[in-house]
Amino acid sequence: MSSSDFPEAEAGDGWGVSLRRLERRVVLVTGGGSGAGAAIARRCASLGASVVIADIDYALAGEVAGNLRAAGTAALAHRCDVAAEDQVIALMDRTAREFSGLDLVFNVAGPWLSGDPLGYWSRIVGTNLLGTMHVTRHAIELLKRRGGAIVNVAADSGLGFGAEDRPAYCAAKAGVMRLTAALRSLQEQKIRVNCIAPDVISSPDDFAVAAVNLALREDCAGRVALYRTGKAVQLVDYGDPGYHQAQTVPW
Ligand SMILES: NC(=O)c1ccc[n+]([C@@H]2O[C@H](COP(=O)([O-])OP(=O)(O)OC[C@H]3O[C@@H](n4cnc5c(N)ncnc54)[C@H](O)[C@@H]3O)[C@@H](O)[C@H]2O)c1
Repeated sequence: MSSSDFPEAEAGDGWGVSLRRLERRVVLVTGGGSGAGAAIARRCASLGASVVIADIDYALAGEVAGNLRAAGTAALAHRCDVAAEDQVIALMDRTAREFSGLDLVFNVAGPWLSGDPLGYWSRIVGTNLLGTMHVTRHAIELLKRRGGAIVNVAADSGLGFGAEDRPAYCAAKAGVMRLTAALRSLQEQKIRVNCIAPDVISSPDDFAVAAVNLALREDCAGRVALYRTGKAVQLVDYGDPGYHQAQTVPW
């Protein structure tokens, strides 16, 4: 791949993405009650989207949605444990019912526990990997109607950068990246699935800009964007042994 695969960045747009506004678009954010998910919800709302904020903690989701509604956005809070497929189905049903469709999905819910205690391995994989799969699987049915994009949030530790003290989390995030790459062919149905893998999210608002830009890039499908604090975002092909020589793209 050469740098000519990527368009020149336009000033302020990052990655050459022309930031179209998201009016009449419906965005779903899991883990949207705090941190990066809440920042992504706010970013999409600022671009005009209607936003569904799904979180296992309804109080958090409700607060984010309430603030967005107060600022004029159509926002809905929904309690959902993404690890439970029946709850994900209910989330999609409600989204379809209340907003008549779906355009962008951000799979952000991805807890980790310090030390990755053995008793929590299945919970960590269940939320980070299976939860992402549940949401993706059921979102595809809605996204097929008019096309759209999914951005999965992984972690650079899933690519081999440290965090060996968190094997379940690393395995789950590696799975999220591989899932993303394996869904590349969905672009033929106008659904682009990509993944962003941060090291540390020191500024949720900056991270949200990168995640939303990735969702809007029409030249990306099945790709992983490495987001390392203080460095340019890099696109890598998951499974490519040369990932550490990843291409730096204008940001
Ligand atoms: N914060 C970092 O430095 C960092 C670094 C690398 C990767 N990540 C990844 O980025 C994403 C966002 O991180 P963050 O620090 O903003 O997260 P966070 O921990 O602040 O928030 C995650 C949100 O997800 C919700 N949540 C937890 N379990 C859930 C479940 N089962 N179903 C639905 N919602 C659930 C929580 O209530 C919370 O509101 C995660 O996927 C995380 O693994 C974060």
